[in-house]
Amino acid sequence: MDAGVFDQWVQRSLHAFEQALDAWVPADAPAGLGDAMRYAVLGGGKRLRPLLVLAGCDAVQGDAQAALRAACAVELIHAYSLVHDDMPCMDNDVLRRGKPTVHVAYGEAQAMLAGDAMQALAFEVLTPDEGVSPALQARLCALLARASGHAGMAGGQAIDLASVGKCLDEQALRDMHRRKTGVLLQASVLMGAACGQTSPQAWQALSDYGAAIGLAFQVVDDILDVTQDSAVLGKTAGKDQDANKPTYVSVLGLEQAHAYACRLRGQAHEALARSGLASTAWLSVLADKVVDRDN
Ligand code: IPE
Ligand code: IPE
Ligand code: MG
Ligand code: MG
Ligand code: MG
Repeated sequence: MDAGVFDQWVQRSLHAFEQALDAWVPADAPAGLGDAMRYAVLGGGKRLRPLLVLAGCDAVQGDAQAALRAACAVELIHAYSLVHDDMPCMDNDVLRRGKPTVHVAYGEAQAMLAGDAMQALAFEVLTPDEGVSPALQARLCALLARASGHAGMAGGQAIDLASVGKCLDEQALRDMHRRKTGVLLQASVLMGAACGQTSPQAWQALSDYGAAIGLAFQVVDDILDVTQDSAVLGKTAGKDQDANKPTYVSVLGLEQAHAYACRLRGQAHEALARSGLASTAWLSVLADKVVDRDN
């Protein structure tokens, strides 16, 4: 595909996404909470998860308005997870998306509350009084809740903290990475697909695609932590080794970690090929971007 065509789709999609998100994150939440929430989620980040939602919806020619809500909801959950991930009780990071982290800018208590409120807002955005059918609202809430709670992101983060200083085997590492990062990326694709009609075969293929790129994403995050500098990443490089975290680089080494990410990309493309869906072009390019990125 012509790279320009994809870039135009991204530009169009993110324009609508940023406008919607800006409108939904309240500036007037009490006692400065709105400022902290807006600081955390607006104007930064690669917006990969929203793009996966919108690409998933496009693949099934789904309801674009519902998908826009799903894209905002997933990004709110993701941004909340970053706010908490950066706090001193977790990774203790001072730089995120090229800016001081939320707890540095607003204090720890406000950062914790901003995360809490963003999590709740995600589900508010998914449940409007009109415009999205109750059945689709419930489906989107279930997908997002399962991906972000104990079985997904929060559970993975618990394993991450419990694994400091430990040497995990590959299976345990894969389980941690799938949960803390992979399942939310996978849910992004599936939430997009839930906005339209899919055959069981297409749903399974999109689920497999999401699982593959979800894991690949965190493998590459581990690699970039070692190979990139903080200016390019917009977050402090070299943190994993400093914090003694098991990563794909510490367990497999850089070269094998990269080879694994490429294998996962191959699995993602294979899954798209057997989906039977006509319009998977954006998902296909996004799989490449997950692996070939420098931040
Ligand atoms: C960072 O995610 C946290 C991980 C799950 C690895 P991203 O690399 O997508 O962060 P942003 O959204 O671009 O800031
Ligand atoms: C974070 O993983 C995963 C989340 C659920 C936020 P990392 O701790 O590796 O993310 P970065 O490197 O700080 O972005
Ligand atoms: Mg972390
Ligand atoms: Mg971190
Ligand atoms: Mg990391």
